[in-house]
Amino acid sequence: MELPPVVDRMGRGLRDLRISVTDRCNFRCRYCMPAEIFGPGYAFLPKDELLSFEEMERLVRVMVPLGVEKIRLTGGEPLLRRGLDDLIAMLSSIRGVKDIAMTTNGILLGHHAEALALAGLNRVTVSMDALDGEIFARMNGTGAKVERVLSGISAAQVFGLPVKVNAVIQRGVNESQILPLARWAKDAAVDLRFIEYMDVGETNGWRMDQVVSGNEILEILGKEFTLEPRQAAYRGEVAVHWRHADDGREIGLIRSVSNPFCQDCQRLRVSADGKIFTCLFAADGFDLKGVLRGGLPDDALRETVRNVWQARTDRYSEERGLVARPKAEMSYLGG
Ligand code: GTP
Ligand code: 5AD
Ligand code: SF4
Ligand code: SF4
Repeated sequence: MELPPVVDRMGRGLRDLRISVTDRCNFRCRYCMPAEIFGPGYAFLPKDELLSFEEMERLVRVMVPLGVEKIRLTGGEPLLRRGLDDLIAMLSSIRGVKDIAMTTNGILLGHHAEALALAGLNRVTVSMDALDGEIFARMNGTGAKVERVLSGISAAQVFGLPVKVNAVIQRGVNESQILPLARWAKDAAVDLRFIEYMDVGETNGWRMDQVVSGNEILEILGKEFTLEPRQAAYRGEVAVHWRHADDGREIGLIRSVSNPFCQDCQRLRVSADGKIFTCLFAADGFDLKGVLRGGLPDDALRETVRNVWQARTDRYSEERGLVARPKAEMSYLGG
């Protein structure tokens, strides 16, 4: 008999699982991993602390009966984890997994796109905050070239992977890129989402006045494009979408600062060292790796996750400004 899917204290199901496969990244985006903090001396997780692919596969298998359907692989930069296509092949053969996506900075995507697609990856989301080479290089903190990301995106498309692009907009940094990105996405058959700069982690020095709100972004887009709102495609969709009147291509806004979406949040995050976080803004997670490595059978592991989810009350974005507590870093939690 199939177990009923679990719900938390606010009636929210557990549908999306986001697995961070590494806390390392080959970029140093200022809003995520400022180079002065994440420098050569930074203590990243040691290898034996990382979940193995077999452990990740087991976790997913155990969580599917709780309601999990969508898997997103994140990092840091997930393509720094060797053999990621093996993991994807393992996950795609689990019954009940309907969608496997990956969030990447795209710089290594050109090398891996074919193997990822063959392994069963369904789609890819590339973070790209600018088209202008100088702004892009400044934002990623390493001088990496935007052309390489663009060719990674093309490679993914060639191998049949639908591509979404996420762009974080920061005042005084890349508002100038909103229209160029929108023009490019329309031509390149890419769904583009603009993200409000969020107060994740403790290292980026976030200030409210650096946030360009979704409404401001929409106003800028309205100068050049005719956009029509479209209904949410499913409960818990993070982005609110508009459709270009002429070709139907979509543009999304992720307004977690100006318009929080906690009410429908069905996401559980697994850090690379096997902690589960019921909110992106949580201070700490529940150490599931300890349970995984403790020799318990699958049923007991599933009950542990069920108990964590049933106790969940998180709604940080709705409480922003009302509570102050330490927060885990985005590069560790996977965004
Ligand atoms: P799709 O299935 O493609 O719609 O993906 P998604 O929108 O769930 O995932 P994606 O990783 O592309 O989300 C984009 C960005 O939205 C993330 O990188 C975060 O910046 C932000 N985001 C995603 N989930 C949450 C969340 O639960 N809370 C908050 N505050 N922000 C989130
Ligand atoms: N605010 C909003 N988005 C962020 N990301 C990383 N840090 C932040 C932040 N402070 C985004 C990245 C990427 C995804 C993993 O999260 O640009 O698209
Ligand atoms: Fe930039 Fe993503 Fe790397 Fe963070 S994890 S530094 S947002 S590329
Ligand atoms: Fe979900 Fe927490 Fe984001 Fe709200 S702030 S949408 S509860 S992850």
